[in-house]
Amino acid sequence: MKLLLLGRNGQVGWELQRSLAPLGELIALDRLGEHGLCGDLAQPEALAQTVRELRPDVIVNAAAHTAVDKAESEPELARQLNAAAPQALADEAARLGALLVHYSTDYVFDGSGSMARDEEQATAALSVYGRTKLEGEQCIQASGCRHLILRTSWVYAARGGNFAKTMLRLAQERETLSVIDDQWGAPTGADLIADVSAHAIRQVLRQPQDQGLYHLVAGGETTWHAYASHVIARARELAPEREWKVRQIDAVPTTAFPTPARRPHNSRLDTRRLQQTFGLRLPDWQVGVDRMLREIL
Ligand SMILES: NC(=O)c1ccc[n+]([C@@H]2O[C@H](COP(=O)([O-])OP(=O)(O)OC[C@H]3O[C@@H](n4cnc5c(N)ncnc54)[C@H](OP(=O)(O)O)[C@@H]3O)[C@@H](O)[C@H]2O)c1
Repeated sequence: MKLLLLGRNGQVGWELQRSLAPLGELIALDRLGEHGLCGDLAQPEALAQTVRELRPDVIVNAAAHTAVDKAESEPELARQLNAAAPQALADEAARLGALLVHYSTDYVFDGSGSMARDEEQATAALSVYGRTKLEGEQCIQASGCRHLILRTSWVYAARGGNFAKTMLRLAQERETLSVIDDQWGAPTGADLIADVSAHAIRQVLRQPQDQGLYHLVAGGETTWHAYASHVIARARELAPEREWKVRQIDAVPTTAFPTPARRPHNSRLDTRRLQQTFGLRLPDWQVGVDRMLREIL
């Protein structure tokens, strides 16, 4: 079996390089490409040519325009990377009969209310990022290709930049931190996403009826404030030799940090469809976060 991975250096892409390797021959590209193969989402035609040349059985797209605030001022680029490129990949996958695996986000929802949303809930993105990611999903679904679309949230990894790492840095620099406490979600490890992806790919190749749209986040729920407090408390235990300057972590509303993009207050995703279809149990978010902290501290 041949697998093509795009976005190999992102948080999820890096972990996919590990989890997909045992499934078959893995060709992993970043935006620069290699050996004349294009991995740049900004060039959908060249990307399609890469697929035609390689003829993979599975295409895994871990690349995206993920800079949520920046997307507000460059909507065309965001659209190209998050919608036009997935469209090109989906068209090629449909032609080839390949399986396309793609990642999406809780930001396709407006985040009203406090219930966890399942895959059937109506979407209503608040930002350019959310709207273009939703468009990407819809392009793939309309193409008729076999696909797995995995919506996730609040991704972190030992490698790359993310919220937990920013909190660790700030906790060593400042005595007081202010962190948002009115957005709810589940921090989800790139390693978990990659492992579940590999498992789901194997199953969908055997049972094509299991393809489709799934929510994939760690178990439990938290706010950014509680998440930051957890990370810093664990960091103190795991690395007592470091100077943790922070004495106070203030809980503040979203309005305390105005940003160009609006973010959902409720990012809770219901993962029952994924757990039932693939026979998996998604561990609570603290399990992966603690493991990541042990790795980096
Ligand atoms: N991060 C989150 O909290 C989050 C939440 C929900 C859903 N997701 C989704 O999960 C997926 C993986 O996200 P992630 O956290 O792994 O993101 P990430 O760490 O920001 O990685 C995104 C990757 O996309 C690559 N990329 C950007 N522009 C590109 C282009 N023109 N051509 C090819 N590659 C390009 C980046 O390459 P460079 O390194 O060269 O820039 C980077 O390696 C994405 O679909 C994202 O929308 C993420």
